[in-house]
Amino acid sequence: MVKSKEWDWRKLNSKEEEFWLEPSLESYYLVNRWQRLDKKDFLDLGCGLGRHTILFAQNGFNTHGFDLSKEAVNDTEKYAKKYDLDIECKIGDMLSLPYEDASFDAILCYNVISHTDTVGVKKVIEELKRILKADGEVYLTLCSKETWGFKQTDWPMVDPNTRIRMDDGPEKGIPHFYADYELIKELFKDFKIVKLFHLQDFYEKDGQVKTSYHYHLLIKKVN
Ligand SMILES: C[S@@+](CC[C@H](N)C(=O)[O-])C[C@H]1O[C@@H](n2cnc3c(N)ncnc32)[C@H](O)[C@@H]1O
Repeated sequence: MVKSKEWDWRKLNSKEEEFWLEPSLESYYLVNRWQRLDKKDFLDLGCGLGRHTILFAQNGFNTHGFDLSKEAVNDTEKYAKKYDLDIECKIGDMLSLPYEDASFDAILCYNVISHTDTVGVKKVIEELKRILKADGEVYLTLCSKETWGFKQTDWPMVDPNTRIRMDDGPEKGIPHFYADYELIKELFKDFKIVKLFHLQDFYEKDGQVKTSYHYHLLIKKVN
């Protein structure tokens, strides 16, 4: 298994920082859904600067944040203090989560679990299953094999699904796992897949239009 490596959040420019401080569109749906389903104990796995950790805490969830980056966790804690929110944050590696079995009703892993290789992703999925309560749900994203990164033949490949990202920025040197539909079906065979999307997003970089593809999954623990 490749060694885990946290994001270097100091390498963000101000436009990127603005992006990573605003909650994603899906997070508002999840707040609504998980309140309606009476989910209470919530984990933001790979919380980054805390945009979702804060949103869920503000909406009454018993909120935990977790990240490999000390800087990210410090920022999330500062952010929580500013809004006088009670959030439990921990620093660590998603491959071995410091939580008891059946601790959480709902877990968000937004652009996080692809930051390892195939063996690592399988380990994280086992950990998610372990720390979820019965009927617990997870919303997670995975990089798609159709995205540009998987086609970068000069980025080292560590297994048939994983490359090490080599472009400058906060993700330099970090492994990226890329999935397709068949692989997703196999990886999540022990869960019920409630929703599965393959999303393309557009952005501009260095004056050029770029697109990236991610799978978004809402899954439920079935036993
Ligand atoms: C793309 S950022 C997403 C942050 C946050 N989920 C959001 O949507 O704003 C990925 C985060 O995952 C963290 N990360 C990467 N590998 C990790 C690991 N092995 N264990 C825990 N966190 C990890 C990074 O440090 C980074 O903060």
